[in-house]
Amino acid sequence: MATSPMKTIGAGELRAQNAGETVTLAGWVARRRDHGGVIFIDLRDASGIVQVVLNPDEAPASEEVLHGLRSEYCIQVTGTVRPRPEGTANQELPTGAVELAAHGLVVLSPSAPLPFQIDERVDIDEGLRLQYRYLDMRRTRMAGNLRARSAAIGAMRRVMDRGDFLEVETPTLIASTPEGARDMLVPSRLRPGHFYALPQSPQLFKQLLMIGGVERYYQLAKCYRDEDFRADRQIEFTQLDFEGSFWGQDEVLDVLEQIVVEVVQELRGEEIELPIARISYADAMEKYGTDKPDLRFGMEIVDLSDLFADTEFKAFAGVLGSQGTVRGINGGALGLARSGLDRLVERAQELGARGLVWMIVQEDGSLRSPVAKFLSEREIAAIKGAFDASPGDTLLIVADEAKVVTSVLGQLRLTVGQPEDSDELAFVFVLDFPVFDVNDDGSLSPAHHPFTAPADVDELASNPETAISQSYDLVLNGSELGSGSVRIHDPEIQAKVFEVMNIGAEDARSRFGWFLEALRYGTPPHAGFAIGVDRMVSILRGEPNIREIIPFPKTQTGADPLTGSPGRVEEDQLFQLGIDVRPEVRIGWAEAEEDAGA
Ligand code: AMO
Repeated sequence: MATSPMKTIGAGELRAQNAGETVTLAGWVARRRDHGGVIFIDLRDASGIVQVVLNPDEAPASEEVLHGLRSEYCIQVTGTVRPRPEGTANQELPTGAVELAAHGLVVLSPSAPLPFQIDERVDIDEGLRLQYRYLDMRRTRMAGNLRARSAAIGAMRRVMDRGDFLEVETPTLIASTPEGARDMLVPSRLRPGHFYALPQSPQLFKQLLMIGGVERYYQLAKCYRDEDFRADRQIEFTQLDFEGSFWGQDEVLDVLEQIVVEVVQELRGEEIELPIARISYADAMEKYGTDKPDLRFGMEIVDLSDLFADTEFKAFAGVLGSQGTVRGINGGALGLARSGLDRLVERAQELGARGLVWMIVQEDGSLRSPVAKFLSEREIAAIKGAFDASPGDTLLIVADEAKVVTSVLGQLRLTVGQPEDSDELAFVFVLDFPVFDVNDDGSLSPAHHPFTAPADVDELASNPETAISQSYDLVLNGSELGSGSVRIHDPEIQAKVFEVMNIGAEDARSRFGWFLEALRYGTPPHAGFAIGVDRMVSILRGEPNIREIIPFPKTQTGADPLTGSPGRVEEDQLFQLGIDVRPEVRIGWAEAEEDAGA
């Protein structure tokens, strides 16, 4: 820890070998205990905690100051480091072998009574934690997370530096671009009625940098997306964004492997074995029912359609007769009672299945199942074979159209599956995504973004629904950490992609004319990627929500309880921006104020 005249060493840095030294510490009163007139405090600063002994006989400060010391007072203490008395060392604290015998104490800043105790063991309402985030971050959990975030970013920068990537900042007041989410808008005062968009990512700017001859770029980029909150989503988040020219997918994945190795080593001291596993999008969907498979456990989806080709069981026969499919997973020894099995059936229905058939393999090899009576001996043997089932295993089977079956089984797999080792890290690259997702109304929207290169241009024109793209994701324990692609560098192919998306030439010109123009000037082949920093650090820290990794996050409703954003602004500000708030919105404000008793 950097020292200054106000503090000669960090509280958490004191060790047995410092015994005998006179030091000055500065930090906060984490805890105070009185023992027969002697006051013990735990002094905390950014480096850790040490015990300080304030013996009134040694007059470290006036009686009044000593007795007035309260939790979270900011103080400075000068004293002598000494070994703790025999038998009182604290093994759990790095500084536990020593204590500071104070001979001087100054209160730098008293603290008002606290809204909550700065104590890890106390459970505090999250709204309160966010309202007083500056106190929350004095607690071990948040302090540790802030450090981990910084260390992860440091590790990322080391890899970028080794690869000669140039750090470039791109603007955050930009024109709206299509990346799938809603834009956050900022009104322009100089051009009333016009709006900037905050970037959903630096996508097009990094491509312009490639056109500009910057062959390797990176940035820790703030991104903004007006989407609904989830545990792994905020409206404002950070990406490690990078791009390179004259390279393709293999080179991007190689850089990603280096990042994964470096960050995991930094945060967890673990070696990640390379290469990272790879799976195609099609295989991931087929085997795990998702494009972000959790590979900490197997439980692959098994296709049973052939096996039930001549089944007597009408529900399966009907589905198979209408181009559907019958598939299932072996949930293993779930040991569920009837009520638990019923809940699984309900869950499958909530997920969109017409039903769920369960079968439990008995000790004698028979199957216990509501549909057992419809199954032939041959089918029972074939089912057990297909699932490699042992007595006690619960088999879960869904019959429907393939899209529904894989999606439902993919989610049930996560409901019943448990990793053997919850600390395990299962990274996987998912490759060969389709160019487009087919919407319910049959229209197409880009599976990644519209600047992603198709694997085969002819295929794109003839079969856009199934055409494969050169895009790839990095997945960890069932969460998407990041995405990237090889980009289109040919303006004609770019125009074709817009056309297939039903963005006409005129429309494309008016929205991205500037980008299509740039593509015309000797654009190098290029490819890149963006990692969600908040997601990566939260999973590696075992945190359930990225809010724990973001220093000042928003709540589920997009509010910041600390600063009160989003807030209303003065009429005059609105006037200057040429903005009028709709009357019904104003009525809503008035009602809300009345409810709040204002
Ligand atoms: P994409 O949109 O997949 O790709 O985003 C990349 C990664 O950013 C993180 N992320 C988020 N994190 C927190 N809150 C959010 N709302 C949020 N949205 C996304 C995820 C995600 O995997 N420009 C492309 C990348 C490229 O092609 O190079 C892009 O932004 O971890």
